[in-house]
Amino acid sequence: MSDRYAVVGNPVAHSKSPEIHALFARQTGQDVEYSRLLAPLDGFVATVRDFIQNGGRGLNVTVPFKFEAFALSNMLTERAKMAGAVNTLRFDGNTVSGDNTDGAGLVADITRNAGVSLERARILLLGAGGAAYGVMLPLLEQKPQRLHIANRSEDKAHDMALRFGTYGAITVSSYDNLDEPFDVVINATSAGLQNGMPPVSSKVFHEHTLALDMVYADRPTPFMDYASRYGATVRDGFGMLVEQAAESFFVWRDVRPDTRPVFAYFGR
Ligand code: ATR
Repeated sequence: MSDRYAVVGNPVAHSKSPEIHALFARQTGQDVEYSRLLAPLDGFVATVRDFIQNGGRGLNVTVPFKFEAFALSNMLTERAKMAGAVNTLRFDGNTVSGDNTDGAGLVADITRNAGVSLERARILLLGAGGAAYGVMLPLLEQKPQRLHIANRSEDKAHDMALRFGTYGAITVSSYDNLDEPFDVVINATSAGLQNGMPPVSSKVFHEHTLALDMVYADRPTPFMDYASRYGATVRDGFGMLVEQAAESFFVWRDVRPDTRPVFAYFGR
């Protein structure tokens, strides 16, 4: 019987993870079955326990369960601990290991797929919610010259900077008076979900800026439209999605899949 994996969330029907992992499994010859698992909003832990009982080996965790997955883990990687959230669970006997591959996925997409080095780069991170926390440590591990966090409520940006302060140089502000150029601008706010965007000045972009929106859609997001109008090269979160999946696959199987055929499959 194949080893069982799934993505658990609510909603989960739209998830591309099953297709991505099926491609990874075929390419690497791993005997893996990967499905979608819809958990009731008040039934995450029961759903996971049931999955383990039925031979499940690992789960990807998506909205809104990443914090519950963190709490459920009895072992955590450093990057999951710092993120305060788990997107990858691995089950070995009674051990539930929690990891977070979102940041590694983002960094791989920027450095390998977009070909932009983060070493000594000036990075602007927009947002200080769960999505931002998930990518802070891997970004800082790239040794940027500076990581600036902008958030509507500046308090939350300060809290996040305090948490990660020992890992690198972090500065913080609201969106007001933020008008200097950055090499990489990452939108980690949830504004795009309501077809909006954070109120960031066009002056943060220049013709060599990479502007990346962590969400993805069939067409460019308002943030991407805005950034490209001011000369930036833009990118959505699809590459991050594929790369975090590859990192999860590696966590489970100890085999690193090639992501390029997946981009080709999705016409990217
Ligand atoms: P997620 O897990 O997607 O990060 P979250 O933890 O609720 O969700 O955080 C949402 C983030 O998007 C926050 O940084 C939020 O800013 P505030 O902390 O000031 O609320 C940001 N955000 C949401 N809508 C926004 C908007 N219209 N403009 C700017 N920032 C927005």
